[in-house]
Amino acid sequence: MKFVLASQNPGKLREMRGILSGLGVEVVLPSELGLHVDVEETGTTFAENALLKARAVAQASGLAAIADDSGLCVDALGGAPGVYTARYGGPGLDDAGRCRLLLRNMHGLSPRTCHFESAIACVFPDGTVLTAAGRCDGTVAYAPMGTDGFGYDPIFFVPRLKKTFAQLTAEEKNEISHRGQALRAFQETLTAYLARREKETE
Ligand code: IMP
Repeated sequence: MKFVLASQNPGKLREMRGILSGLGVEVVLPSELGLHVDVEETGTTFAENALLKARAVAQASGLAAIADDSGLCVDALGGAPGVYTARYGGPGLDDAGRCRLLLRNMHGLSPRTCHFESAIACVFPDGTVLTAAGRCDGTVAYAPMGTDGFGYDPIFFVPRLKKTFAQLTAEEKNEISHRGQALRAFQETLTAYLARREKETE
């Protein structure tokens, strides 16, 4: 089964492929199908945005589409950047710049508790929608640490492991991350859905 990923983020693609390949699901990018789909993320929740992205790509490709909408919610910032995580600080910033901005905005604030959230939506050509969600708690590090991963990984500290996400291997991160949890929940939902569908066509 082939899913089109409603994202161009290579970090997400790597993680999605790593987890969904176990289910025999091949994940491809819209660009690999010659498609370019721009979706305005106008939702007020991760779940709404994931559904907007998956719907648009399913419509454009005629294939099942999967989208993850995720972000970092910092308690001392009232849950910001939240759904604006990818756009934090405006379009001029890259991942490292967004991490620096967040560290600056956290200066002198406490607590430093935060969490990542991930909402997954999968839309099939017949309009069926499957969803799942995951969450990972941590703290905002005092300085970037580690070189692996992407986005805010260098400043997302996991107290239990005394490491940031960027200091974990891909496997270690997948085991605890918001996306890993959401994808495992999605795996269960998808397995049940596929079994139901197979039964109906018998
Ligand atoms: P989205 O592509 O609209 O879901 O944006 C998600 C934002 O959250 C981007 O800025 C990502 O870099 C960031 N983000 C999501 N998941 C992770 C993660 O696992 N590690 C680091 N940053 C992440």
